[in-house]
Amino acid sequence: MKILTVSLLSLVLLFSAVACDNKPATTTTVAPAATDPVEQSTEPEAGAEREFTLDELAEFDGKDGKPAYVAVDGVVYDLTNSAAWKNGQHNSFQAGRELTDAIKNVSPHGVGNLEGMPIVGKLVG
Ligand code: HEM
Repeated sequence: MKILTVSLLSLVLLFSAVACDNKPATTTTVAPAATDPVEQSTEPEAGAEREFTLDELAEFDGKDGKPAYVAVDGVVYDLTNSAAWKNGQHNSFQAGRELTDAIKNVSPHGVGNLEGMPIVGKLVG
């Protein structure tokens, strides 16, 4: 009878030990919340510092898959992705040129249309 009691007690203890071990089968690690904001670079875009002579600018005429750059007030803009400047041409104007006078005095829109256009450098000489 004593043995039976001891065995029963052991069984009860064993069951309670198993029952209390209720850790999840797999441990999930919660990743720490991403608190670091993605770093915004305040540096100018690579290439924005490039200096172009008129001859160098002429290379970027938008023809044959070349980029279409124009210079206005000494700033060189990249109009390659503008639908209005397909193949570097726009209302009889050609990319690869200095077009300050044209945009200010010939175009109906003025320099406002250059807003938001990527700047790739400046015109020198
Ligand atoms: C006879 C002269 C010109 C006329 C009649 C003219 C007309 C126009 C018109 C109607 C648009 C809007 C096109 C569209 O949204 O599809 C436009 C856009 C534009 N034009 Fe002219 N333009 C002239 C000259 C120039 C010149 C000399 C420049 C020099 C940079 C220039 C630069 C631009 C730019 C940057 C845009 C914006 C393109 C875009 O939003 O993608 N335009 N022009």
